[in-house]
Amino acid sequence: MKSILTLAIETSCDETSAAVVRNGREVLSNVIYSQIDLHKLYGGVVPEIASRNHVEKISGIIDEALREAGCSFQELDLIATTYGPGLVGALLVGLSTAKALAFSLNKPLIPVNHIEGHVAANYIAHPDLEPPFAALIVSGGHTHLVKVVDYGHYQILGKTRDDAAGEAYDKVARALGIGYPGGPQIDRLARLGNGAAIPFTRTYLEQDSLDFSFSGLKSAVLSYLNQMKMKGEPVVVEDVAASFQEAVVDVLTDKAVAAAVSSDVGTLVLAGGVAANSRLREVLDQKTKAKGIMMLYPPIELCTDNAAMIGCAGHYAYLNGHIADMTLNAVPNLTLDVLSF
Ligand code: KG4
Ligand code: ZN
Repeated sequence: MKSILTLAIETSCDETSAAVVRNGREVLSNVIYSQIDLHKLYGGVVPEIASRNHVEKISGIIDEALREAGCSFQELDLIATTYGPGLVGALLVGLSTAKALAFSLNKPLIPVNHIEGHVAANYIAHPDLEPPFAALIVSGGHTHLVKVVDYGHYQILGKTRDDAAGEAYDKVARALGIGYPGGPQIDRLARLGNGAAIPFTRTYLEQDSLDFSFSGLKSAVLSYLNQMKMKGEPVVVEDVAASFQEAVVDVLTDKAVAAAVSSDVGTLVLAGGVAANSRLREVLDQKTKAKGIMMLYPPIELCTDNAAMIGCAGHYAYLNGHIADMTLNAVPNLTLDVLSF
């Protein structure tokens, strides 16, 4: 069988990344330039700074990805790019670069949904993984529970009605003054604190609902910090981090296990930046084991944004006949259940 080589490009938020992937699951290179240090100063991603930086970096990152993979532009079979969801200005940089390459090299242009990319990180990490399975996708912009019915075929079982899980981590971290991005900081501090110290709200919504809501929890943490300040009492940052994290993890894990049970698939995969969280992995391991569900995670470097996962999703999109033309545009609010190109 002739192998299919995909060059993938990812610029939806604050990582500029390019990768070369063979036959969907073999990563020949995955070059990631993170802009986090540039945005730290502002406590979050500044869209205009992100776009400008993608413009400056993208060509060099693609060259490096090809060099590391030991292949030339001519040897590539597909050019895959994230076209949404994400920041429109940031998305347009990767998308325009991919269009220019596909047009000049006369190769198929493959449009990839970023959320689908996060799920696909698990195909790279687990060569034998095949649909159907359930997936919990938790990142800075999304919180979804889906049934992956087949490659490129998703049934949304639940999603957040307000803040994404990672967004809640980042906002709470900002209130605690522990820097951006907040997830890794809270993860680290929580290990030193008492998760039962402060009984923060757990929002389960209607009975059997697989949707999430994290804005009430975020407000509860902000109001707790405010009260302590008014009373002049000291805040134990480690306890706040641990108690907040327990509340997030309780809800995420209960609903993820319920989703895996109700969709009758036997396997649950975790995806997205928050999938790097050590407590989330620990509790998911315990709860899935108790129900006889197989639990899979990508390695940490494939949890946060990277182009290898986009190359993997792009490979399967191509096999499903999803090829875009030069009118492909960025779709900042693209969802997982709609193909819009
Ligand atoms: O997937 P990602 O790189 O970007 C989006 O597509 O949004 O996810 C970034 C998010 C941020 O909110 C960050 O705080 C969170 O993932 N994150 C974590 C951890 N590492 C990254 N959240 C909790 N624990 C972590 N260890
Ligand atoms: Zn992401």
